[in-house]
Order: sequence, then structure tokens, then C-alpha cells
Amino acid sequence: MLSNGIIQAAYVIAALLFIFSLRGLSNQESAKSGNIYGMIGMAIALIAAVASIKGGLHWIVIAMIIGAAIGLYLAKKVEMTQMPELVALLHSFVGMAAVLVGLNSYLDPHIQNFQGGELTVHLVEIFVGVFIGAVTFSGSVVAFGKLNGRISSKPLSIPNKHYWNLAAIVVSTILMFTFVEVKSGAGATISLLIMAIIAFVFGFHLVASIGGADMPVVISMLNSYSGWAAAAAGFMLGNDLLIVTGALVGSSGAILSYIMCKAMNRSFISVIAGGFGSDGSAASSSDEEQGEYREMQPAEVAQTLKEARSVIIVPGYGMAVAQAQGAVSNITERLRGMGIEVRFGIHPVAGRLPGHMNVLLAEAKVPYDIVLEMDEINDDFPDTDVVWVIGANDTVNPAAEEDPNSPIAGMPVLEVWKAKTVVISKRSMNTGYAGVQNPLFFKENSYMLFGDAKDSVEKVLQNL
Ligand code: TAP
Repeated sequence: MLSNGIIQAAYVIAALLFIFSLRGLSNQESAKSGNIYGMIGMAIALIAAVASIKGGLHWIVIAMIIGAAIGLYLAKKVEMTQMPELVALLHSFVGMAAVLVGLNSYLDPHIQNFQGGELTVHLVEIFVGVFIGAVTFSGSVVAFGKLNGRISSKPLSIPNKHYWNLAAIVVSTILMFTFVEVKSGAGATISLLIMAIIAFVFGFHLVASIGGADMPVVISMLNSYSGWAAAAAGFMLGNDLLIVTGALVGSSGAILSYIMCKAMNRSFISVIAGGFGSDGSAASSSDEEQGEYREMQPAEVAQTLKEARSVIIVPGYGMAVAQAQGAVSNITERLRGMGIEVRFGIHPVAGRLPGHMNVLLAEAKVPYDIVLEMDEINDDFPDTDVVWVIGANDTVNPAAEEDPNSPIAGMPVLEVWKAKTVVISKRSMNTGYAGVQNPLFFKENSYMLFGDAKDSVEKVLQNL
């Protein structure tokens, strides 16, 4: 066992490395070193934490071996497109850990060492920790289900849902006062357990009420909650590093949620409150009959591209699923070789995780300077000959601008329909993640190129 001084020093070093890690992760070029700082920090933190344990070390080692084996297996197996689900699942673990740490701290006989004001503070920590942990756990499980399609991405809309949420918070607050007042015995235990059940249901309801297109904000919000749950666990365990790390994750997640809300023109408070304001979505006209759509074959697409002077490619989740980025990169090179201007338009929430498209295109060696963000390229569509939408749907849906009843109303989108010709590569007329029909497909200048994105791009390339 190491002395307390060395352990505290190790914790400070680890906390500093985590801060460097966050700094590095804020920029593409330094992201790799950011990851390395994070890994070293985590290794130091783990060694110091294990070295501070008095007895029972073998249990920790067994748990670590099992955990590391599962983690390695998942990290090797998981596809890029499944990353957000995995992250949601990992958030749920943090939530459950906070719940278990809370219950354990309450049942621990050492709680008798706390007296007076200290005991009150400790009990509040336990109560709040279990509450945040339970909300994070069930919310993340629902997010996991929504992301992998096991739970419908449509928002759950029970009558008076905001009053139910409010009631859950009011009842939990009353239970907290009871818990702190009674301190021990059956009354306190029952208050804690009833609150835990309410918090599980509350977390489930909060995330279930949020519609598909708002999920990116929810994921970063759950990331933030998982940070606060970890910080709460840190308070309960008296572990400074856990408090610092939890606060770093909690606040960076909150900042990311805020940035995402701004990018998607959503109110931060509305999304935290569980889809406030999305009640009108039931009245959406998006499922109505939209008219006829036209099709193009790969040879016709190749001909259209050959005749164009400027082309914008708009990738989305479908490109990631089809792993079409390599083929897209090849065709880009070919078109540029033919003297055609090719650029990419990237929506901030295209795909399933922040920066998803940028990562895939960088991996396929598409030059950075032709990959533009939505705000940089949105005004250029009217002067563009051909837009090729590859596996994107919600992020190019004109209903966001044209239909105030649409669940995605108000979300900024890439205005691809303003180009002379729009080709859309997807496998069917199915909707995107938000589950709303896309009027783009039925516009007069739109043509569907059906098939798996990789196959389609390769066929067009052969025809060029
Ligand atoms: P989506 O709206 O999800 O649409 C993707 C389209 O790709 C689908 O309509 C699908 O149509 C098509 N597709 C699937 N597999 C394909 C394949 N193998 N080949 C060709 N096409 C394929 O995509 P988007 O425009 O990128 O929008 C992202 C959505 O995800 C937004 O609603 C966003 O809010 C949400 N979301 C984003 C994030 C982040 S942080 N980026 C996180 C969670 C949720 P077919 O089935 O007809 O092929």
C-alpha cells in the first residue's frame, strides 16, 4: 500500500492529464495526443486507486480482468456506426455505479462515524447521487434502445407529461427531507428506495419523450449526467479524483449539449425537460401522400456528373453503414481529375456521433479543404449543378424549413433542393432517423439512385 501523500499526488497528476486530454480532444490535429494523455491519466488513477485499498484486493483484480476483457472484446468488435450505442450503454454503467455506491454508502456501518452537520451532508450526497445515477441509468438504456432501433425513435407523448416530470421532482425532494430527517431505520431506507424507483421511471420518461432528431443533444446530455453521477460518487466515497473527473465530464458534456442545441436551433431547457414543445409533432403532415418520385440509373448519374461544373456531395448515416467512404473518395478524385469542382457539405449532426462524417472522410483521405461545414456551404447550393446526397435524409429534409408541424421543424438543414439537380442514393423510400418522410425525394429536380451506397458509388464510378 502506498502512502496517502503519494496517492494524492498521483491523483493530482491524473487530474492534470485529464485536463490536457480534454484540451487535445478539442481539435482534430491534437486529438491523438489528447487520447494518449487520457490513457496515461487513467492508468495512473487506476494504479493509485487500487494501491489505496485496504484488503480485498483479489476481488478488485478479478473484476478488473473481467471488465478489461469485455472492454477489449467490445472495442475490437464494435463498428463505427455502433459507437453512439456503446457510449450510451457505458453511460448507463456510470449511472448504475453511482446508484450502487449510494446504496452501499448508506448501508456501510462506517456511516456511524458521521455526526451532526457532517451526517446531514453525507446523507444529502447519498440521496442526490442515487437520484442522478438512477436517471442516468434508465435514460441511457432508453437512448441505447433508440439508437439501435429496438425502441421507436418517435417521442413518447403521455398526457400532461411535464406535470408528471414536475411531480417526480417534487415528490423526490420531499422524500429527501424525510430521508435526512429520519437518518436511519426503515423510514429512511424506504424513502431512499421509493426515490430510486421514481428516478428510474423519470429517466426513462425524459429520454423516451425526446424525438429522434433531438437524440444527439440527449446523448451529450446523458454524457454530462454521467459526469455528475461520477462526481456524486466521488463525494460519497471521499475520492477527490472522482469529483474532479466527474466535474470535467459533467461540465464538458453540458457545454457540448449547449453547442448542439444551438446548431440544431433547439432550446436547451426544452430538451433537458424531456422534449418540451414537441407535443405538436402528432399533427405533422409528414406522413401524407407526397406525390411521385423519379429514378436514375448509375449510367445516367455518371452522365449528369460528367456534364456538371460544380458538384456537392452530402454524406449521411447511410454512407457510414455502407462503408462507402473509400468509394466516395475514389470518385471524388476521378471527378476532380476531370476538372469538375467537388466539395462536401457536412451537417453538424449527420451520422450518429459528432464529427462522424469528418472522421470517415479523413480516414478515406478526402482532402480537408474541400470538406465544408453546413454554414460554410449552405449559400452555395443555388449555384451548384449537381448535389449527390449519399445516405443522408433528416439533414437534407426541406420539411424542417417548410412544415411548421414537422417534428424536425426549425432544425437547420442543408438546402440541397436549391441546386439544379439532386441525386439521392439510398436503398428505399424509408425515412431517416427522425422517422419523418422527406419531401426532397418528390421535388422536380430530385432523382433517386436506389441501392446500397457503396455499390451505387462504385457503379457510377465504373460508368464515368
Ligand atoms: P438519417 O436521417 O439517419 O438517414 C440515413 C439514411 O441512410 C436512411 O434514410 C437510409 O435509407 C439510408 N441508408 C441506410 N443504410 C444505407 C446503405 N447501406 N446504403 C445507402 N443508404 C443507406 O441520416 P442523416 O441525414 O445523417 O441524419 C442523422 C440523423 O441521426 C439525424 O436525425 C440526427 O439528429 C440523428 N442523430 C445524430 C447523432 C449525431 S451526434 N450525429 C446522434 C444520434 C442521432 P434507406 O433505409 O432507404 O437506405
